[in-house]
Amino acid sequence: MRRKMIAGNWKMHGTKEFTKKFISDLETWLDSEETGIKVSEAIEDKEMEVVIAPPFTALDCAVFSRITGKIRIAAQNAYHERKGAFTGEISFPMLEELRCKYVIIGHSERRHIFGESNKILEKKLIAALESHILPIFCVGELLSERESGNMEKVLAEQLSSAWWSLTSDVVAEMVVIAYEPVWAIGTGKTASSEDADDACDYIRSLAFDKFGAATSDSIRILYGGSVKPENSRDLLSRENIDGLLIGGASLEVSSFKKIIESAL
Ligand code: PGA
Repeated sequence: MRRKMIAGNWKMHGTKEFTKKFISDLETWLDSEETGIKVSEAIEDKEMEVVIAPPFTALDCAVFSRITGKIRIAAQNAYHERKGAFTGEISFPMLEELRCKYVIIGHSERRHIFGESNKILEKKLIAALESHILPIFCVGELLSERESGNMEKVLAEQLSSAWWSLTSDVVAEMVVIAYEPVWAIGTGKTASSEDADDACDYIRSLAFDKFGAATSDSIRILYGGSVKPENSRDLLSRENIDGLLIGGASLEVSSFKKIIESAL
């Protein structure tokens, strides 16, 4: 059985104070309320992971304000070079030092606002793995690409350029894929759970073609794009959706908790 992942991507939100309070409220819930305790058991039994991705400035605070190890911390991005004259960038060894477990790579905002290409993202993926930080690698099509019937082509290109040099073991054990259709991010338009599942199924078939059955069975594929407490259970009930990457609704403990609960 694939371990479910519920991951909150805070984007450019969240001060240190906000982060401390968020973690303290979430940990209190995980330790004291009935559903929270069930979630804690699922985490201990390796059935579920709860991840938050605060901005760089709050990462240190997030890592060290946790009292239990139940919440995992992810960075939202990093640069592939280990060090050097790259003003404004953060390297993977820097994240490793902070004990970040995961890093989001290739989020559509990185691809479309900051112009990150498949080539750069491949380098980032490799650099993350070299630093033992597990990538949550995002892929997804634009609305125009979906409407012109090119969704599969876009996903295949994004993935084949990312993992062509990786081995099946690495992909199966270390890489998480997030399918995030660009038109569903922050727009309130969620893909129907059926469409989301179809896209995740297609991604799994690409993993099958490249790496074989064992890898395609074990790779975790998340859905992201306007996930809310109202639609999370339906999305998670689908065969190929192993978790959720959540933006807006991960910024309030109350809605994030409801989404986590729906993974039980
Ligand atoms: P959203 O963002 O949930 O606010 O649509 C999802 C994401 O960007 O990962």
